[in-house]
Amino acid sequence: MSSRGSFASKFGVLMATVGSAVGLGNIWRFPYQMANNGGAAFLLIYVVCVFLVGVPAMMAEFVIGRQTHKNAVGAFNQLAPNKAWRGLGYLGVFTGFVIDSYYCVVTGWTVYYLYLAVSGSLLGNSVEGYDELFSTFAAGEVAPIVTIIIVVMITSGILVMGVRNGIEKVSKLLMPMLFMLLIILAINSCCMSGAVEGLKYVFVPNFSQIGFDSFVGAAGQAFFSLSIGMGALITYSSYFGNDVNLTRTATQIAVIDMLVAIIAGIIIFPAVFTFGVTPEQGPGLVLKVFPVVFTRMSAGYIWSVLFYLLLFIAALTSFLSITEVVVAYMAENFKLKRWVAASMVGVMFIILGACASLSFGPLKSYTIGGLIIFDMLDYLASNILLPIGGMLTSLFVGWRLDQKIVASQLKVESPSQYKFFKVYIIFLRFIVPLAVGIVFITQFFS
Ligand code: TRP
Repeated sequence: MSSRGSFASKFGVLMATVGSAVGLGNIWRFPYQMANNGGAAFLLIYVVCVFLVGVPAMMAEFVIGRQTHKNAVGAFNQLAPNKAWRGLGYLGVFTGFVIDSYYCVVTGWTVYYLYLAVSGSLLGNSVEGYDELFSTFAAGEVAPIVTIIIVVMITSGILVMGVRNGIEKVSKLLMPMLFMLLIILAINSCCMSGAVEGLKYVFVPNFSQIGFDSFVGAAGQAFFSLSIGMGALITYSSYFGNDVNLTRTATQIAVIDMLVAIIAGIIIFPAVFTFGVTPEQGPGLVLKVFPVVFTRMSAGYIWSVLFYLLLFIAALTSFLSITEVVVAYMAENFKLKRWVAASMVGVMFIILGACASLSFGPLKSYTIGGLIIFDMLDYLASNILLPIGGMLTSLFVGWRLDQKIVASQLKVESPSQYKFFKVYIIFLRFIVPLAVGIVFITQFFS
């Protein structure tokens, strides 16, 4: 075990796991999910999902990771040798491939927009102009792939440095920067003339727009945003020291992740209302709509640079955690040096990312069920693989894993902690699987 990496400090643990959780899911996906589902009402449902399902499922992954100190595949191999549960580890690595293939494309987009913002060529266009700019760029054959190569090279470079000198150092540097950017941008938004309207949109619920879909959306969003269901948290927690309190860490991450999503809403919606763009814009919200806002804003140059820097940092630290699942598996199970594993994984992701990216252009005609490759990967990961992975992991820890292991990882010592532990096991056995199962099945009928 000594040859394996580990995080050096509790602060490092928190920054790295928050780095994984806080990502495009918070700043890119959450605002448009909220916009499509009635604003504040969606937020309420989301908060319930995070605590009812998200936190218990996160803790389950932490228990597995720290108990075994192994990558996702190694962990299940150790805990359930020769049992079908072992498949869960491989499912995680497979899901990692699926998510990474399109996450690197979107991370690449953030690199491009950051470049446009810094070079000063982003501002000054019209609503239609930005729509066109995004569509032309995303459908291109060269530029998006160059950005993917940049993203993958940075990521592989950080991963080669290892857990402590790579992931931990970078997270400790970038995450505080991200929080500062969030606060500065939020204050700026709150000073706008549409602030009251925007804040109302975020905080005053409109229940008329809530449907069953909103529950499905909120549960899926919670899984994606908290990085649950593919062993990313197993892999990271395998580097945790024994002094890390798993319950507290899971709760902290959930709270911080949620706050970041809310702050992203506070940044985006006042601006959206001030500059008269409609909030219901789908995934293009921060790429197609936001440049218009910066163009009309005073000192738009600075704000646009800060905003796309924020988006890039958020995406990069999450991409890092997904990639680490695959790199740790390759390095440990095939006994490869980390740099060999990271380089191989890098080349694979460039190829897969290129395919996903080209599906906006030359490969547009390759569709399954009407979805282009990019959308198909997102659908497969968010709506199928992550819920299945998260549900089975909860069932595994709730029913199959020796409860003594779970109790010792969660440091259950006093009688009151024991009561809490009993409730927790009920959550893992029934509440999480039922909630995820219902949501999972109903999506096929809606
Ligand atoms: N949570 C990240 C986000 O909000 C994405 C992410 C990172 C992720 N690691 C993951 C999603 C593992 C699912 C599983 O953008």
